[in-house]
Amino acid sequence: MKMKADMITTINVIKADELAFEDDETCLVVPAYHKEFPLNSAVLAEEDEVVLQALVDKEIITGKAKQCYFLPTPAKTYKGVLVLGLGKRDALTAETVRRAAGAAATKFKGHRVRHVYLDLTGFPEASAAAFVEGVNLGQYVFDTYKNVEPEDAPTLVSTITVVVGDDVDQEALGMACQTAALVSLAANGARHFANTAANDMTPSTLALAAEEIASVADSQCSCTVFDHQMMQELGMNALLGVAHGSEEPPKLIFLDYRHPDAKRTIALAGKGVTFDSGGISLKPGSRMHEMKYDMCGAAAVLCTMMALNHLKPAINVIGVVPTVVNMPDGKAQTPGDIVRAYNGKTIEIHNTDAEGRLILADAMAYTVEKYKPDCIVDIATLTGAVIIALGHCAAAVLGTDDATVEQLISAGENTGERLWRLPLWEEYEKMMEGNHADLNNIGPEREAGTVTAAAFLKQFVGDTPWAHIDIAGMAWGVKNVPYLSTKHATGFGVRLFTQWLLEQARESG
Ligand code: BES
Ligand code: MN
Ligand code: ZN
Repeated sequence: MKMKADMITTINVIKADELAFEDDETCLVVPAYHKEFPLNSAVLAEEDEVVLQALVDKEIITGKAKQCYFLPTPAKTYKGVLVLGLGKRDALTAETVRRAAGAAATKFKGHRVRHVYLDLTGFPEASAAAFVEGVNLGQYVFDTYKNVEPEDAPTLVSTITVVVGDDVDQEALGMACQTAALVSLAANGARHFANTAANDMTPSTLALAAEEIASVADSQCSCTVFDHQMMQELGMNALLGVAHGSEEPPKLIFLDYRHPDAKRTIALAGKGVTFDSGGISLKPGSRMHEMKYDMCGAAAVLCTMMALNHLKPAINVIGVVPTVVNMPDGKAQTPGDIVRAYNGKTIEIHNTDAEGRLILADAMAYTVEKYKPDCIVDIATLTGAVIIALGHCAAAVLGTDDATVEQLISAGENTGERLWRLPLWEEYEKMMEGNHADLNNIGPEREAGTVTAAAFLKQFVGDTPWAHIDIAGMAWGVKNVPYLSTKHATGFGVRLFTQWLLEQARESG
């Protein structure tokens, strides 16, 4: 499960007078605000400007958000100029730039562009990082299982050169862009894990991927994997009950990132059901294949750890991934079963399809006891109900720690991975009380499914400040975001978590 080396873009930041176009694989990108013309560029050749202005006059180029007009320049050393519509100046956000860049990435692919020059001389320098992210995310292709003719292999952008005005700190901007490049590649890594078919992406594959993440040069991260026997000795029967129906052995993965100057320790837990058939409470067949994505929480945690291990912020982070396959079988867990979780609480299984909360319960109860983190955040494709509540527009966030919830919401605004808070009142916890055991694993049918799932998880984090993110609506199937593709996983969570943790490291450091 290696990341493709050819996806790594080189970033340069230069001043306008240093500009020299390399070759005919180069494209100059000139941003434009909606209906603000002439174009604001310090580096556009006069002949190109004349043609582009004529297209503006004919209202072919308008600068509307995401509009990408590619003007080929066959007589020049470079391949063409792309006018990048950013929409209204007052409405500009990082997400506008990211989406425009995602649309541009499609054009770059179509025109086989390898080198991109982005002229930001007349635009906010903060756009540079969002542009890098949008291009990297937009270029992601998943062709592992396709027979692609060599001549049809996609051409990817290998360098992005940002052209800035004289007052800009080139080094600082270069660093911000490098971080953006790395984080977007980590997000692509999560997309890749998730897109990989469940026959290749098993709990054992995830464990190997975690070991690889910990074994890079200069690693500050160590990896521990608990196997079936170890979990049995520890009494993790909630997790093991889910694994009973599958031949694939379950794993509990820990990635432990340490920094000598760290003031805080944060735990991230990600649901890693590499396939969720529902178990004996079998799911309907029509969209069951999508349940290979039921490990998107795990992918987000692992790839966040990958990013941290490269960026080295001053914070300790424990990434925890409980991972199993949920299958029906002669040995599978059945409705009515009662299991005793790691923290001693007993759970009556009323629906074997509510399995994510069971594996997270043991993973989180163990993590808060063993590592005593300052806070724990879990991320999971936990409930179909969150899609009813929020659609494919935001993930739900719930929790006991208002500060963390608010920080996460704000990181979501900045990264475009939006979160919306749902309540977690006592009444919901009552709804999860068991008849024959302490807890039921499901609440009353059709009522507040996302909240009752969270109310269940709350019973396993003790007094540790905690937040829960339900990404069932955002992990795949997101429409109309140019840097994502509807058919594939989104990598949701990697950019959000990394941004939040980098901020936490800065503030506590
Ligand atoms: N992995 C599913 C949740 C899910 C469903 C994610 C659809 C994305 C799309 C989870 O394990 C599950 O099956 N949840 C049940 C819970 C119910 C039995 C209380 C659900 O949401 O139906
Ligand atoms: Mn399920
Ligand atoms: Zn599931």
